[in-house]
Amino acid sequence: MTDLIAGQTVEILLTREKIEARVCELAAEIARDYRGRAPHLVGVLKGAWVFMADLIRQLDFDLTVDFLGISSYGVGAQSSGKIKITKDLDVSIEGRDILIVEDILDTGRTFKFLQDMLSVQQPRSLRLVTLLDKTSRRVVPVHADYVGFEISDVFVVGYGLDFNQRYRQLPDLRVLRSQPSV
Ligand code: PRP
Repeated sequence: MTDLIAGQTVEILLTREKIEARVCELAAEIARDYRGRAPHLVGVLKGAWVFMADLIRQLDFDLTVDFLGISSYGVGAQSSGKIKITKDLDVSIEGRDILIVEDILDTGRTFKFLQDMLSVQQPRSLRLVTLLDKTSRRVVPVHADYVGFEISDVFVVGYGLDFNQRYRQLPDLRVLRSQPSV
């Protein structure tokens, strides 16, 4: 892993052990609320898939999964504010208990967009679990129902999160301070 991050300032923000422990706690909360309801978990690509893979393996009750492809950041570290769907849902969510799975809640624009888009399909319920929550960056007044960690306004990579599609495979969450040229 050191080759990947050579020359960058990438201090560890959250170790894999700390993430693993928190994912187990989140799973326990979700199990308490959803056991017996066969929820439909919708992971938001691409950032959420590592978190989603770990989370669902801690959930020992009936559920189904799907993915939505959303892109809200342009090239670089700043949000463009533009949202594009790159993969739609495979099945109807009407009458289902939907739990959106996100890696990070930042400005809130993406979740607001998803709330508006998915509520038209009349799910029974619609909630959000996010591994990371940057509340200080919020532009749209939305909140997550389950939050792994609230973090300050730093640019994080690893555990599914990227900078220009790189670093997603790092097992720990790291702060990228000096951004590489693209
Ligand atoms: C990230 C994250 C959320 C969104 C949150 O996705 O996965 O979907 O940004 O930001 P917001 O609250 O400001 O809308 P990103 O666009 O980086 O794409 P990726 O998941 O493919 O890395």
